[in-house]
Amino acid sequence: MFPETFKAGIVATSTVLAAVLAVPSQADTVNIYSTRQADLIEPVLAAFSAETRIDTQVLFVKKGLVDRIVAEGAGSPADVLLTTDIGGLLDFVNEGVTQTVTSATIEANVPATLRDEDNHWFALTKRGRVVYASVDRVEQDSITYEELADPKWKGRICTRSGQHGYNLALFASMIDELGEAAAETWLAGLRDNLARKPEGNDRAQAKGIYSGECDLGLGNTYYVGLMETNEKEPEQKQWRASLKVLFPNNDGRGTHVNVSGMAMAKYSPNREAALALMEFLTTPAAQAIYAEQVFEYPVIEGGQVSDIVASFGELRSDGRDLNVVGNLRPAASLMVDRVRYNDGPR
Ligand SMILES: [Fe+2]
Repeated sequence: MFPETFKAGIVATSTVLAAVLAVPSQADTVNIYSTRQADLIEPVLAAFSAETRIDTQVLFVKKGLVDRIVAEGAGSPADVLLTTDIGGLLDFVNEGVTQTVTSATIEANVPATLRDEDNHWFALTKRGRVVYASVDRVEQDSITYEELADPKWKGRICTRSGQHGYNLALFASMIDELGEAAAETWLAGLRDNLARKPEGNDRAQAKGIYSGECDLGLGNTYYVGLMETNEKEPEQKQWRASLKVLFPNNDGRGTHVNVSGMAMAKYSPNREAALALMEFLTTPAAQAIYAEQVFEYPVIEGGQVSDIVASFGELRSDGRDLNVVGNLRPAASLMVDRVRYNDGPR
């Protein structure tokens, strides 16, 4: 069902039942387009296939996912879209590649603040954007985002690109909190405290702490769990061991929280199976897999975090409306350019 040219891009297929069932008909397969790495969603998709006998195919597209779906138009084989932050979810909706999903199950499982009011997108997991702090070189056990602009951190902070969605959402939350002018002053202060030009992903900032290049880094919570348990690249366990997790503003307004989430593609060819998958992903069983294997915070009421995530301490969300955050991203992006954040410290 994927056009020939896409087949090479299909990086994971959940074929749990291939041995049990005959070759699945089209209606027995959900086609997923994902900006999220296939290995991070594979466990939950395998559980879905085991329960429903519906197969899944994942097309991992790191960049340009929206453009691709727009170009495919009504012939797009995409059923379910998965992405890693509020920005990606709003991009789907703003580009018109989603449809409304009516599901009492999803509405019961996902709190109203974590889904679109018109049901075009739904959060699946939550993650805090926290400060990674050197165990050896940072004594304090609490911090605020505002403090990251304090000159006492000069030359001591590492982050990934200011234009990455995770940082844009954080900077957007600062615009919402402080107003645009004060947020820009803050961002320029953070830039001047950078140890180096922004580079790499969140884990690269942990590596920078391990190597001694930086004392603080910005990163998402789940990467700490992924590093701590990384058997494929065990050096990441050392990166993790070199840092402690500080939840910024936990004593005040709370920490900035972003989400991963899902939407149904506008022209989904397998609508029924797509809905079954979307509902499954919000069930306690699926949420537990996300929590235990990917170190995310469940979106469902009463969902439990893994022991590793619990060891970080308590995440208190700032509770900010993600639609507000998402809509301030363009302003945040312009601000990153204005202060030349990605050029590094002055
Ligand atoms: Fe990520």
